[in-house]
Amino acid sequence: MNLPAASNRTPLESNAVDAADPGRPGMNRRAFARAALGVGATLAAGWPARGAEASRRRVRTGVIGCGSVSNAYLPTLVQCPYVELVSVCDIKPERARRQAERFKVPHHYPHLEAMLAGTPFEFLVDLTDMQAHEAVNRRALEAGKHVWSEKPIANSLAAGRELLRLAREKGLRLWGAPITVQSPQFAFMARQLAGGKLGRVAAAHADYGHEGPTWSAFFYEKLGGSMPDLAVYNLTTLTGLLGPARSVTAMLSIVTPERTVEDKGRIRVEEEDNAMVLLEHDHGVISHVQSGFNYFNPHGHDGSRETRHTIALVGTQGYLGLVGYDWAPLGVDLATKDHPTLTRHETDARGYVWQQGAALAAECLVTGRELLVTPEHALHVLEIITAARESQATGRRVPLTSTFKWPVVS
Ligand SMILES: NC(=O)c1ccc[n+]([C@@H]2O[C@H](COP(=O)([O-])OP(=O)(O)OC[C@H]3O[C@@H](n4cnc5c(N)ncnc54)[C@H](O)[C@@H]3O)[C@@H](O)[C@H]2O)c1
Repeated sequence: MNLPAASNRTPLESNAVDAADPGRPGMNRRAFARAALGVGATLAAGWPARGAEASRRRVRTGVIGCGSVSNAYLPTLVQCPYVELVSVCDIKPERARRQAERFKVPHHYPHLEAMLAGTPFEFLVDLTDMQAHEAVNRRALEAGKHVWSEKPIANSLAAGRELLRLAREKGLRLWGAPITVQSPQFAFMARQLAGGKLGRVAAAHADYGHEGPTWSAFFYEKLGGSMPDLAVYNLTTLTGLLGPARSVTAMLSIVTPERTVEDKGRIRVEEEDNAMVLLEHDHGVISHVQSGFNYFNPHGHDGSRETRHTIALVGTQGYLGLVGYDWAPLGVDLATKDHPTLTRHETDARGYVWQQGAALAAECLVTGRELLVTPEHALHVLEIITAARESQATGRRVPLTSTFKWPVVS
């Protein structure tokens, strides 16, 4: 596997460097931006047409969880020239059968053990309920499969670390959604930070919400909640841009204590549906993520017409605003002291779509081309979410222990 060099340093260490010599932004920031642009842009550029290289190896892939999000993943996997889709699985067997028929997948199974005992495959894409990921991912790794998991990878940092240890021990790969750091808009923002366009970075805000899923109860049950479902995108983007968080302070609440959902009818909401999370990064940078399931949005769950700045970063000399959501970005607005008129950049997605993570992982398994998405980053975000819950429960600021390596290509 052709691994890029990695660094423990964060791009905003150059906040400190800039203070000593504002004219010379730190090398590590620039290197990070090169990585973001180089790798991200290449991956987002689109795949060669299927069949263009008939000899290319395809990863035998199985998908578990044939619910709502499978309708976004399966078309991407079917089109990916690095994937041979061999099986689908769901504990609601009619769903697996329906998706197998619709996407011409040769095998379908009613549970994971039957899938593992069935037609051979090497890569599992886990699209099950949030609470089920940890056990499904563990069993798949034990059975020798590479894993792409929807968020979260596990239910706790300790369990997630154990999964990663297991993967490494067995020479397997483990990745988790979301993939916001792969977008060209993320790369553009990283490059502006790296180039010192914002001066000394001070603060960032992000928000993402809608009125909540209506189809499945797990979103509202223990270990569900709006943070692992929605805030996870913003938390990934902000830590991706500003570096790992050192501590978390949060207020969480339940605004709608009962809901009606399609699979279980009237249910009690057991995890937060309203979250305010404050993050302390290095060098004095503070960021804030606001997220929940009670946000009226005229566009519903559809991000394509969202034109607000849902991510905003500000420093002593500039402002960056991401147009639309970080999972479906439409551009980046930039204003600086030198050019104070807000100007729009990077309006082309260049092939990036939020549901392509598993397909990019398959490409990595075939070609060795690494993603900017790492399991360590996903685990850091998971720790932020569990720390936010601890902060709400105790009223205290909670220090974090995890970090992640910056994907720096020399
Ligand atoms: N729906 C979306 O638009 C969307 C978007 C991005 C991410 N996600 C994420 O995708 C995941 C799934 O969400 P969804 O909306 O598709 O939910 P869903 O309820 O529509 O589908 C989940 C499916 O997994 C199946 N399942 C659960 N446990 C299983 C197990 N142990 N073995 C086999 N099948 C099992 C369920 O029967 C169900 O069909 C969640 O982590 C969610 O956060 C969803």
